[in-house]
Amino acid sequence: MYTEYDSIIDSLIEKMSLDEKIGQLNQITGPLKDSQIEDIKTAIRNGQVGSIILASSSTAGNDPQGHVNIELYNELQRVAVEESRLKIPMIYGRDVIHGHRTVYPIPLASAAAFNEELIEECYRDIATEAASDGIHWTFSPMLDLCHDPRWGRIIEGPGEDPYVGACMARACVKGFQGKDLKDKDSIAACAKHYIGYGASEGGRDYHRTEIADATLYNYYVPAFREAVKAGVATVMSSFNDISGVPVTGSKKHLTDILRGKLSFEGFTVSDWGAVEQLQKQGVAASRADCAKIALEAGLDLNMCDRCYIEELKDLVLNGDVSEETVNTAVKRILRVKFAIGLFDRPYRENFAYDKEKHLENSRKLALESMVLLKNDNVLPLNKESRIALMGPFTHEKRSLLGSWVLDGKENETPSLFEAMTNVLGRKNFYCQSNSRFYDDTNYIYPNADVVIMALGESNLATGENRAVSDISLSLSQRELIDKIHATGKKIVGVFFCGRPMAMEGVADKLDAVLYAWHSGSETANAVCDILFGKAVPCGKTAVTFPRKSGHIPLYYNVTSSGRPVDCYYNENPANCYLDSTPTPYYPFGYGLSYTTFKYGEIKAQNNSILLDDLKAGKNIEISIDISNTGEFDGKEIVELYIRDRVASIMRPIRELKQFKKPLIKKGETINVNFSLGYKDLGL
Ligand code: NOJ
Repeated sequence: MYTEYDSIIDSLIEKMSLDEKIGQLNQITGPLKDSQIEDIKTAIRNGQVGSIILASSSTAGNDPQGHVNIELYNELQRVAVEESRLKIPMIYGRDVIHGHRTVYPIPLASAAAFNEELIEECYRDIATEAASDGIHWTFSPMLDLCHDPRWGRIIEGPGEDPYVGACMARACVKGFQGKDLKDKDSIAACAKHYIGYGASEGGRDYHRTEIADATLYNYYVPAFREAVKAGVATVMSSFNDISGVPVTGSKKHLTDILRGKLSFEGFTVSDWGAVEQLQKQGVAASRADCAKIALEAGLDLNMCDRCYIEELKDLVLNGDVSEETVNTAVKRILRVKFAIGLFDRPYRENFAYDKEKHLENSRKLALESMVLLKNDNVLPLNKESRIALMGPFTHEKRSLLGSWVLDGKENETPSLFEAMTNVLGRKNFYCQSNSRFYDDTNYIYPNADVVIMALGESNLATGENRAVSDISLSLSQRELIDKIHATGKKIVGVFFCGRPMAMEGVADKLDAVLYAWHSGSETANAVCDILFGKAVPCGKTAVTFPRKSGHIPLYYNVTSSGRPVDCYYNENPANCYLDSTPTPYYPFGYGLSYTTFKYGEIKAQNNSILLDDLKAGKNIEISIDISNTGEFDGKEIVELYIRDRVASIMRPIRELKQFKKPLIKKGETINVNFSLGYKDLGL
């Protein structure tokens, strides 16, 4: 797919000086201060800039960033394509992670929707908005599976399951890149962080990882393999080391696996400053060493630390690095520049898109992402009842958008208070309209039949470099829950969170729990749709909810310890913690609806199959009848797990292999089919 222009690229490379080649491997940072513009133009004119990252700090997800500025981007591009010797356009990248102007749910929430088509559609919207602002390339999707909700970056990924990770990879890449990367509403995607970053020890960001090959191939690789299969243009290497080898300098990971086994043809980009970090990690003696190790490992574009631009020329001239290695990296970068049509269309312009439709899609995905974790006959609420709203997230807007929002606007995001006022008016709706009074219990609760508590965590407690040691709800929120619980009122807890939080001692004091996540621009409207029965909840957890931090890591797809043999989550009260039961508070794949579903008998068309038949393409066909036995039409996520009982290595007790999400009308029974083939059953 990316090799189409190779002969043109080869002749272009022949014309390039060594300096110009190394310039293509250099990504500089922006947005750019006025005072820097002339120097940058000079560098561009001299062919020293291959790419600009449109972010001004390395942790762009949590720091305020400058605004996109298409006029400036076009002006700088003009210098590249009109004033540089070989007129090679630059590629502009920005962290458009889960939305651009319109913000969609954080990826961990989207994963809970188990709806690939909808995710793809939403990421199409995101690409459209970003492309209309002159962005060519996004550093997304983030595909880091994670077992540790203390890690702030768990919000950015697909959760704990490799199959869900692969589905997210496919949906996001197809959404971003569209039918043709050259289309004006497509942008190049970047599968990151390759690889194993989610295993950072103790959930502490950037920490070391220890990943054996069996885990690497069976657990961490599948999402990236799927991204490559879906045609992802670029891959970002991760900051972490794996067993003492930083990925940025690992030929095994960047070349042997990514290029050799996965057949990736696009270019790799380092994470911010990760090339010079090799020295800090203790595997390089100098910046020159860093450049040599990374380039020879297969790292093509150097994000921001200037190691390549400052060191590679001497390395080549001294014979320490071959010019051929430089050429290979240049070629891969040019492949993507050609594939996205930069040579034909270097300038970009704003174009109109259907903002209303994007908001609608954002609301749909938010609705499908939210998970009803508990409901003791309280929800949906009757709009005529007397409802109080309180809690620290009553008036919150920014956190609802989540971390990694560079261009979405807080002031265009309704708070829960505003959304509920819209639905209920102010009659029989008790809430102080001023954020200072979010826990003015005396004012609120005496009149109410039901109290809605807006709880959660700030977006600033999540994202890059924002690990926590304790996943409990803050003490003040737990105290507030205790206070309201003591009144005997019905309580609905709405949780605006980026990670699964410890619900023990919390959920048991609430009558209903809606996990709303940080679900983007339409979070509060979607919550209202669910609270008041306009929508029926249909999300399920894509990550395990441990009872407490001390139970981390806790994930469903664990192998059997053999002691005992068959426990889901491998828990055995007899030989686990002395002080607590490490069963999940909510397991992976869990979520309630307003309606009820009855599962029939699971049937396999063929109860056994020969390996040779499987290899020859025959599948195992599985089906099940599912009836909607409740009072609402509803969508149900039907999850198909397998267990490979005897294999050459231990396999998980449960492994998700496929899922379907049909809408089943009330009273209706439908037949759901699955088909498992050789690849699904292999390891
Ligand atoms: C560092 C982060 O790890 C990465 O995800 C992001 O894309 C880059 N910074 C660029 O902002």
